[in-house]
Amino acid sequence: MNHFEYGPEGLACEGAPLAKIAAEVGTPVYVYSRATLERHFTVFRDALVNAGVVDPLVAYAVKANSNVAVLKVLGDLGAGADTVSEGEVRRALAAGIPGGRIVFSGVGKKRDEIAFALKAGVAEINVESEPEMELIAAVAAELGVRAKIAFRVNPDVAAGGHAKIATGKSENKFGVSFAEAARLYANASNNAALEPIGVACHIGSQITDLEPMRAAFTKMRGLVEQLIGEGLSVERLDLGGGLGVPYFNHPEPPPPAAFAAMVAEVTKGLPVKLAFEPGRVIAANAGVMVSEVIHVHERPEGRKFLVIDAAMNDLVRPAMYDAFHDIRPVHPKTGESVYDVVGPVCETGDTFTRDRALPPFGPGDLVAFMSAGAYGSAMASEYNTRPLVPEVLVDGDRYAVIRKRPTYDEMLARDLVPDWV
Ligand code: LLP
Repeated sequence: MNHFEYGPEGLACEGAPLAKIAAEVGTPVYVYSRATLERHFTVFRDALVNAGVVDPLVAYAVKANSNVAVLKVLGDLGAGADTVSEGEVRRALAAGIPGGRIVFSGVGKKRDEIAFALKAGVAEINVESEPEMELIAAVAAELGVRAKIAFRVNPDVAAGGHAKIATGKSENKFGVSFAEAARLYANASNNAALEPIGVACHIGSQITDLEPMRAAFTKMRGLVEQLIGEGLSVERLDLGGGLGVPYFNHPEPPPPAAFAAMVAEVTKGLPVKLAFEPGRVIAANAGVMVSEVIHVHERPEGRKFLVIDAAMNDLVRPAMYDAFHDIRPVHPKTGESVYDVVGPVCETGDTFTRDRALPPFGPGDLVAFMSAGAYGSAMASEYNTRPLVPEVLVDGDRYAVIRKRPTYDEMLARDLVPDWV
């Protein structure tokens, strides 16, 4: 459920008409619903608790939507943060999320980033390889602290979905094998600079079938039992993120309650706390990107291009993953026309969709890309020197710009021309 509905002034986010926001802030613009963000987080956490999972750490995956205001909304509800860079750790801290609720993941953490995370007292650093474990131990020893680590295990399970976002097969770069995990866990337990507290997995994103997750989690359960059986201390099992959302052309994803029931079943009786790293399921349907039609270009051979003022740099998912986003008129219209929807960037890949039947649009009309709250703005760039798309957060009928569109002067001021050029 989300809070984007048609009202007397067209499509609105909660009590704020998108047309009003577009008129004030300009287009393209991302618009997020606070009520939807809060609802998605609460539904996810409550589903786990109601299924019998005791005190889960729900560490929202910051990469999905990393605006500090969004993080604060979630952090204030008790969310932790799953982070993959020093920048993301800094964002989580800036949003008031304490270090004790921050998980630091990622295959290539640098020395300075590890030091920063250790000083911030993060709850868990997810170790993705043996050299990384050694680096973390060295940095922790230098700082005179014990690093709480969890081993990210690659469960070698195919999760379906797009190949570019599948992470759980052994040919992917993520995590260590089960055999390595057991060996490294024992080694780490004997290292004064390391405190191994658990194991973690994440098999992919936009997963709409619970079975691959069940298979991976069952293997993880086996590993936890093995480690405990070897006399090692295991406090936490981190089951990652990956639960899919409806994009309207995809198979319906399982509801959080079904996911939670499966988790509770697989982990029943295991003497560890559980952690989760959901991103998309919290943020995707809490946001839209609003864009304005520049013109309709009809080619003599019959193709009709709807040229809009948003481009692949603002929302890269269609170009990068052939992703489908529902496109709705901000003001409802009758009739239908078949379009290729394209942006102004000079690449053929700057195409949001081909041959899509949409209402008949003209210049100045506003369109909303639905389900754009996750991996939308967070993946935006300034390619073609297009200003980074701004973000707005809505709360009832009030709203605020939570990231402003840079001016051209601000953008150009970042370039430095040496006096010898
Ligand atoms: N934990 C780890 C270790 C991850 O790598 C990811 C996502 C998550 C959690 C959150 O997964 P989620 O619950 O959002 O599925 N840019 C792509 C998605 C990339 C996901 C990368 N990792 C897209 O736009 O579809």
